[in-house]
Amino acid sequence: MNDVHLITHPLVQHKLTLMRKAETSTNSFRRLAGELSQCLAYEVTRDLPMHEIEIQTPMRAMKSRVIDGKKMVFLSIMRAGAGMLDGMLEVMPSARVGHIGLYRDPKTLIAVEYYFKMPQDTAERDVLILDPMLATGNSAVAAIDRIKELGPRSVRFVCILTCPEGIRHVHAEHPDVPIYTAAIDEGLDEHGYIVPGLGDAGDRVFGTK
Ligand code: URA
Repeated sequence: MNDVHLITHPLVQHKLTLMRKAETSTNSFRRLAGELSQCLAYEVTRDLPMHEIEIQTPMRAMKSRVIDGKKMVFLSIMRAGAGMLDGMLEVMPSARVGHIGLYRDPKTLIAVEYYFKMPQDTAERDVLILDPMLATGNSAVAAIDRIKELGPRSVRFVCILTCPEGIRHVHAEHPDVPIYTAAIDEGLDEHGYIVPGLGDAGDRVFGTK
């Protein structure tokens, strides 16, 4: 598959199994989403370019490596993306955060934008788009279309769960955007939900059902 990074680390898979379970409480689901996102953050940033700087330890001077250029910007797809944000910020606390509000028209499943706010210097930054569920790909494609208008250095899509339909859709429109995920499930049901999946990620993070 075209630039899809399946994160099979045992910690990631264990946490995902707990998140999938219908009986997992809102409290636990939210905590697990944060912990799993921290694990994903390490994988997504594995190949960031670095350079050496001179530093002074308490013992002596040395050269040591730091990440190149400006920091990341996270683009959280509201509202479920918020479930991944705190975990990502734990690992990259100086990252900037943008938001895009998209709702799925329940009949057409098409993504409709109702909010968009990004840092002014997004063109100089690497963007990580966060949405726990890459399902039909409609929201993902809409978010990538929108962020590319700002000309960022790079765009990556990070989710917890996806399916072949979602991957195909994103890579048909944006073959240059790598997808990072903890699992690729069987497919979509007639309402556009991933099966076996974990249900509605937004409802499970916020306890709204
Ligand atoms: N959004 C969700 O929250 N869950 C799905 O299965 C699909 C889209």
